[in-house]
Amino acid sequence: MTAIFPLKHENDILKLLDQRLLPNEEVYVTAKTIEDCFVAIKDMVVRGAPLIGFTGIWGMALFIKHNPKATYEQFARAAEYLKSARPTAVNLAFEIDRCVVMAKAETHMNALYPKLVAHAKNEMNNLYEKNLAMAKFAEMDLAKKFGDRPLNVMTICNTGVLACGVLGTALGVIVHLNNQKKVKSVFASETRPYLQGSRLTSFELLKEGIDHHIVVEGAASYLMKNKMVDAIFAGADRIVENGDTANKIGTSSLSIIAKHYGIPFYIVAPISSFDLTLKTGDEIEIELRDQDEILKYKEHSIAHVDAKALNPSFDVTDHSCITGIICENGIIYPTTPENIRAVVEKK
Ligand code: MRU
Repeated sequence: MTAIFPLKHENDILKLLDQRLLPNEEVYVTAKTIEDCFVAIKDMVVRGAPLIGFTGIWGMALFIKHNPKATYEQFARAAEYLKSARPTAVNLAFEIDRCVVMAKAETHMNALYPKLVAHAKNEMNNLYEKNLAMAKFAEMDLAKKFGDRPLNVMTICNTGVLACGVLGTALGVIVHLNNQKKVKSVFASETRPYLQGSRLTSFELLKEGIDHHIVVEGAASYLMKNKMVDAIFAGADRIVENGDTANKIGTSSLSIIAKHYGIPFYIVAPISSFDLTLKTGDEIEIELRDQDEILKYKEHSIAHVDAKALNPSFDVTDHSCITGIICENGIIYPTTPENIRAVVEKK
């Protein structure tokens, strides 16, 4: 099994695996400046909430590398610029804001570059343990519901190594369960229009040797009605105080169908995905992406040239449809503000 490295820092050069070309080509793009990182995030060379957060740290490191005499104010302005690359996943703002806090505490801005590089590496190095912790919480909860039998599970979008840098969140749970021989089969939702499920999740499942089928989003009800799914795992781009969760478009309908058929629906995400400054999901900014992601496949039109499309990239899953939210500190249910704070703010 060849390992996947979506982000590499070698000989002081940042290389990003161009996820737009997967699964057919594995090509790395070099990011030399904060602008390169901005474009890579916006154009989805790198994607997935945790990974764009890490790319944000590298972007700020590159800014200070090239502007060692920058003032704190200039650094903070650069941070706002980089944060604007994609609005929904709070991980980008979370990680960049932490760089700004480091800059504020710094007396010599030119000392910041090695510190940010060390910080970025440290964050990525700690990630595997955190993701594994989430997977083990999920495993424990599933054992209570299903005992030891291997499960049929479903997921949406891509929440694996490509989205996180290592193991992954929702997909990390599935890979971990499979390593424990607790997965029978996986349904990977293709995730229209950007096809993170069929291009990326399936690619990762193939590399792991995990039996799976790609399904269209519209098949969810069919699968659940016919008892083909035991549990569903999705990631998150932003989880707010009442447990409402923004995730890839299609997640909300999946959760509503799951509730209808009584199938456990879990959100799996790191603490950097929580935004407890927002009270409900109505306050989350939803990224609208280019209509051509729907109207074209690569350069090829798949709708009439005069057709218009609306392309919201995320939706908000109501907390009432979520069985549990799993983060590295534990599992939260029911998803009330009190329970969320107790787990997220646990030291
Ligand atoms: O638009 P993307 O591909 O960056 O989508 C983000 C995601 O990968 C998901 O919504 C995901 O569930 C959260 S990231 C682990």
